[in-house]
Amino acid sequence: MRAVVTGGSQGIGLATVRRFAKDGDELAVHFHRHAEAAERVVEEIAEGGGNAFAAGADLGNPEEVRELARTIAKKWDRVDILVHNAGEYARRAFTDGKWEDFERCLRVNVVGAAELTRLLLPRLLRSRRGRIIFVSSVLASSGSRHGAHYAAAKAAVEGLARSLARELAPSVTVNVVAPGSVDTAILAGDSLAQRTDRLRTIPLGRLGTAGDVADAIAFLASPAASYITGATLHVNGGLRMG
Ligand SMILES: NC(=O)c1ccc[n+]([C@@H]2O[C@H](COP(=O)([O-])OP(=O)(O)OC[C@H]3O[C@@H](n4cnc5c(N)ncnc54)[C@H](OP(=O)(O)O)[C@@H]3O)[C@@H](O)[C@H]2O)c1
Repeated sequence: MRAVVTGGSQGIGLATVRRFAKDGDELAVHFHRHAEAAERVVEEIAEGGGNAFAAGADLGNPEEVRELARTIAKKWDRVDILVHNAGEYARRAFTDGKWEDFERCLRVNVVGAAELTRLLLPRLLRSRRGRIIFVSSVLASSGSRHGAHYAAAKAAVEGLARSLARELAPSVTVNVVAPGSVDTAILAGDSLAQRTDRLRTIPLGRLGTAGDVADAIAFLASPAASYITGATLHVNGGLRMG
């Protein structure tokens, strides 16, 4: 299978890239700032006998999104799996933030992903079993005291995913993975008190790992998930149930 993973340079995206490579998939590893990390994982995959290439783009910049789609389209006439994992989360209260920050968050998390989907769609439709997986967040449904922009963007991602699931059926399945608190760079700014607070609210008693989320993404991309579309899979240790 040929899989595009956005934000494949670190965290959940990197774990997903490694997971797909282990399953024998060919990878397009997208990155934004961390080109070297993306090139490193491409080398790692090549050393293991696999196939991968890296391609950079700021998903908040429409011209770079178009260039990313062109790069992928030049290499591949078919895409089987598209994982929209890249995301930015600057913690900021709605009342403190600048309007441009709000707009940028929606551009990176929603508009960029929607545009990339639109541009790669002809290639996804050539797949025997096309899969699109969006990475959302528990905050899409719970809301956030210091991330209205991010919660709004992730809620939009979920609405987009469910709509695409209807529109693209039966050719392509479209699902969402909604992580809770996962131990990646996004949580690096936590104080010890914030971390302790987080742990207190998670019934399974630990933060998630990037691998926990990659496993859920890999499941939705696998033949075992062929009858699942329009679903949101919560990977949050019980932080939010239902
Ligand atoms: N960690 C959590 O607790 C948590 C919880 C809920 C949801 N999520 C979601 O999970 C996804 C992955 O996050 P993570 O935890 O793995 O965070 P991370 O380690 O910070 O990784 C974020 C990834 O997104 C890419 N990215 C950031 N801004 C971008 C931009 N403007 N254009 C293109 N790519 C951009 C980064 O690329 P570069 O590194 O190359 O710049 C990086 O690969 C995100 O969608 C995030 O919202 C995470």
